[in-house]
Amino acid sequence: MTRVTDEVRQQPTVWVDGRVLDDAEEPVIRVDDHGFTVGDGVFEAVKVVDGVPFALSRHLRRLERSATGLGLPPVDQDAVRRAVADVLERRHLPFGRLRITLTAGPAPMGSGRTSEGSTTLVVAAVAGPQKTGPASVVTVPWPRNERGAIAGLKTTSYAENVVALAYAHERGGEEAVFGNLAGHLCEGTGSNVFYAVDGELRTPTLASGCLAGITRELLVEWCGVREVDEPLEVLESADEIFLASTTRDVQPVARCDDRTWDGPGPLTQAAAETWRRREAEHADP
Ligand SMILES: Cc1ncc(COP(=O)(O)O)c(C=O)c1O
Repeated sequence: MTRVTDEVRQQPTVWVDGRVLDDAEEPVIRVDDHGFTVGDGVFEAVKVVDGVPFALSRHLRRLERSATGLGLPPVDQDAVRRAVADVLERRHLPFGRLRITLTAGPAPMGSGRTSEGSTTLVVAAVAGPQKTGPASVVTVPWPRNERGAIAGLKTTSYAENVVALAYAHERGGEEAVFGNLAGHLCEGTGSNVFYAVDGELRTPTLASGCLAGITRELLVEWCGVREVDEPLEVLESADEIFLASTTRDVQPVARCDDRTWDGPGPLTQAAAETWRRREAEHADP
């Protein structure tokens, strides 16, 4: 009995195009949905604390930017907000995440879309804690293409991240870090990278091709971080490194390839402390 209850608790609560599913495993997306066939979609992952989404306005603005970049129809932000409210009303999450996915909808099984296609919107809420504890990261041999058509967009085409993360896992890491075509540090598969040099916190610029992470954006505003592009090898000499993302907040890096650190450095600790304080002040900063 307990086992069943736990399983139910782990199941996402899922809203698809206006309907909350009775069973999250019910098949509802068409096999010719362009999000499924070619990764023609955009998404957001939003942290939920005590039933309240964190920084929802910034996430919706980024969803809009990603959709515009991909050439999808304009996002109806109010409709997405209503879907989010509907899901969170049905599923009280003390701690968890929302996944908002918008795809181009049904289309021919090739790269072209139909002009009259209607988008598919899915909002799923799932319980689960943040990633805690120090991270071990591995740099990967494949570059991000900062000049590509979808650079910096949060699209559902994440297969490159899947391959890179598997590479990191095989080497005992839990996150993979990319350089870009210019040889500069770029980002992780699901995180932005911050590092300290000469007492200064730094992170790659958006021109590096990294995602404009919401956590990154807030840390830059709150912590006086310098945005600068430097060779990937800067990680070999940085005094401190940390990852930033919705699922991590500020996560110290304890190992990067062959280098190890005993504990979080002072700038990482200060950033984590500022994050905790500012996050508690405002749910939609
Ligand atoms: C490629 C990539 N970079 C950075 C991030 C961090 O962004 P955010 O802080 O908005 O979660 C993510 C989040 O999943 C990501 O997928």
